Amino acid sequence: MELAVIGLSLLALHFGEPVSYYLTLRGNQPSRAKTHSLPFVSIIIPTYNERGRIQGKLRNVMAMYPNDRMEVIVVDSSDDGTYSEVNQVDLPNLRLIREPKRRGKVLAVRDAMRTARGEVIVITDADALWLDRLENAVRILQGEIGAVSCVKYPNRGEEENSYRDFYNRVRLKESSLFSTPVFNGEMVAFRRELISPEELPMAGADDSAIATYIAMKGFRAICVPDFRVVEEVPLTRRDYMSWKVRRGAHLVRHFVRNFWKVVRCCPTSFKFIFTQETFLHTVEPWLLVSGLVLVALGDPYLFLSLAGAASLLLLWRRTRKMVEAWVPNQVFLIASQFYGIRGERMIWRKERKE
Ligand code: GDD
Ligand code: MN
Repeated sequence: MELAVIGLSLLALHFGEPVSYYLTLRGNQPSRAKTHSLPFVSIIIPTYNERGRIQGKLRNVMAMYPNDRMEVIVVDSSDDGTYSEVNQVDLPNLRLIREPKRRGKVLAVRDAMRTARGEVIVITDADALWLDRLENAVRILQGEIGAVSCVKYPNRGEEENSYRDFYNRVRLKESSLFSTPVFNGEMVAFRRELISPEELPMAGADDSAIATYIAMKGFRAICVPDFRVVEEVPLTRRDYMSWKVRRGAHLVRHFVRNFWKVVRCCPTSFKFIFTQETFLHTVEPWLLVSGLVLVALGDPYLFLSLAGAASLLLLWRRTRKMVEAWVPNQVFLIASQFYGIRGERMIWRKERKE
């Protein structure tokens, strides 16, 4: 019986902690200064074997900002002829940097930054399409706001959709309080004066590392609700799982690596957010597993009743979406922790998405 009580306490902590965190995140999105003139932006697109989608991506980017206020820099390390697709696109301020060898996204972006002329740097993945005009994001980059990112939606998959829906809300709430420590590589924009190419963090979760770096410098890094991006999700179940585990591992490593730095340096609200997120990415999934195991060992009947009650949640759409968003993510996080032990991966396998 005692085992079951300990198990129940762990489960209560597992579910109670994120709920209380969510409820304490209060604040308002910073208002947009409509008068601020449009900055000249350098849009950097790193590409590795994006032949099939780079033209669509370039057209999408061109449609979302005045072309005379932007330059586009594609840094390509492909061996599938992506560069020849880029060369066919007619855009005055389009530049192509070809890398002799694949070196990972961050080194590619660093090279592009060295040649960038814009006041604002925008980094965006080729497999993501913007739904809103870039003004919505870059107009806000002034004063205390140092960096901005998007909210993102998957192009397929119920499970991924439920997951995104939930995490978009959390990122927006964290942004309202001060800053979010998790950015989306589908669109990251920051004021160039705040990060030099050499300072660009060498991390798998380069997007989130930028957000955190900006917050450590005392500026805000926020996601905005009116800059939405659709991201391609891998096709097969196997690729989907390896994609989730790799990205999860990047994030776990991001939190563990930066935890003490943030605790020592940052504004209290960011310390709070970062500590909570570190906990949610490291300890949280183990509370679920160990809680369930202890209840099952201590009181099998109680365990079966809990399982029965939990399966009722699948009957309603709203609660089913919560379970879909939450439970697989806990499993992915545990797998990510094991995967992440083996070190930082700056170059990764490309999953099939079309
Ligand atoms: N030049 C270059 N060299 N580009 C690369 C390389 C490389 O070695 N590897 C990947 N890229 C390009 C891809 O072509 C794509 O445009 C972009 O970098 C992101 O690569 P994906 O393979 O699509 O990464 P992801 O979707 O799994 O992860 C993205 O999102 C994560 C979470 O938001 C990346 O942006 C991650 O950095 C990010 O953490
Ligand atoms: Mn991608």
